[in-house]
Amino acid sequence: MADETLTIRDNRSGEEVEIPISDGTIRATDLRKLGLTSYDPAFLNTASTRSGITYIDGDAGILRYRGYPIEQLAEHASFLETAWLLFEGELPTREELEAWEEEVRVHTYVHTNVTQFLDGFRHDAHPMGMLLGAVAALSTFYPDAKEIGDVESRRLQRLRLIAKFPTIAAWVFRHSRGLPYVFPRNDLDYIGNFVNMTFEIGGRHEPNPVLQRALEILLVLHADHEQNASTNAVRGVGSTQVDPFSAVSAGIAALYGPLHGGANEAVLRMLDEIGTADRVPQFIESVKAGDGRLMGFGHRVYKSYDPRAKLIKRVADDVFAQTGLNPKLEIALELERIALEDDYFVSRKLYPNVDFYSGLIYQAMGYPTDYFTVLFALGRLPGWLAQWEEMLSDPEQKIARPRQIYTGYDERDFVPLAQR
Ligand code: ACO
Repeated sequence: MADETLTIRDNRSGEEVEIPISDGTIRATDLRKLGLTSYDPAFLNTASTRSGITYIDGDAGILRYRGYPIEQLAEHASFLETAWLLFEGELPTREELEAWEEEVRVHTYVHTNVTQFLDGFRHDAHPMGMLLGAVAALSTFYPDAKEIGDVESRRLQRLRLIAKFPTIAAWVFRHSRGLPYVFPRNDLDYIGNFVNMTFEIGGRHEPNPVLQRALEILLVLHADHEQNASTNAVRGVGSTQVDPFSAVSAGIAALYGPLHGGANEAVLRMLDEIGTADRVPQFIESVKAGDGRLMGFGHRVYKSYDPRAKLIKRVADDVFAQTGLNPKLEIALELERIALEDDYFVSRKLYPNVDFYSGLIYQAMGYPTDYFTVLFALGRLPGWLAQWEEMLSDPEQKIARPRQIYTGYDERDFVPLAQR
């Protein structure tokens, strides 16, 4: 028996069992000794895995990837360097980073048939719907992606996804605007190539290094967030041993939801709806009365200021210095000021999350509102893939299949149609 244990007494029978405690956690399967099941809708207090990737202390507002504080990564690391760190567990050496950047660069092209099914989408198709369809469809171009037991094949699919995702994301953007697709350029870096594929017109695009670095920082900040809803979707779907393109498309679908990645889009709609800063108090009152939520506020894990939101506020200053102030910023700042003084939000520990300011920055960069979550997905991709790899390498993981408490009818006889 472990050093730390928990004794549970079943008051129905008087039976007692002693179960081990490890890492402050008991195993739900140990409850079977008493014929019990644990019930935890929405996983409020259930760990689904052991993980060595991302550490969050929600009360202290701490976020670290592989032990490195997010503040240091945001300041010093490139996005591809961060992706390597998430995958490999260590920062790359200069040689490793250069080789990785080169490998990504030569995998950026996708089969041109992809442009044909993108063309099939309506002009007003939501970019996230197109993205999730196109990424899922990539599995049909790479049947070897089914070899999920082969470490080398997994590495190749990961590389393909990291390299091709910006191309597809950019083409989704072009489709929405009715613009011809721009193909990847090998002379540009990861971010520069993506920005060029989205904004180039008539063979020209003047890169803005401040905006490109700001975008890169946003992607680094989004790169992983341990067992969030979309990562849980990737792990859950991936646990069936499906290929990673399909598993990642499940993550994209989860991210699309307004309570997850769709929140940055919802924040902008909310700011539009509020209209002017003097209407903020009225809006706050309506939220407190139960009429909708203050989007971009609150988090399942952070019960203090989201450390990413702090960093994003600084990025916003750099971006607005280039683009001029976004008038909605005034409304957002006023919302934050009032909410942080209001007992409703204070007592519930509701603070701005990563999405509160990111939408304003994306808008200033020229991305339309319904495209914001695509940028979030691009950022989160390394996290999904690192978590997928960790799950497949974990001997304790099996197909994810929860239990239920059945609340329906007992057995009853079929009633023929004529007698109903
Ligand atoms: N505005 C107003 N009230 C809120 C908000 C909000 N944004 N968030 C939570 N609350 C209230 C709830 O009504 C509830 O109040 P009650 O105890 O009186 O019933 C209490 O705070 C706790 O809320 P829960 O919904 O139980 O918290 P949960 O952990 O399930 O939800 C979530 C977290 C989904 C992020 C929630 O705070 C929310 O809906 N926020 C707005 C959407 C958003 O910004 N999502 C982005 C999340 S970050 C990301 O995905 C990158």
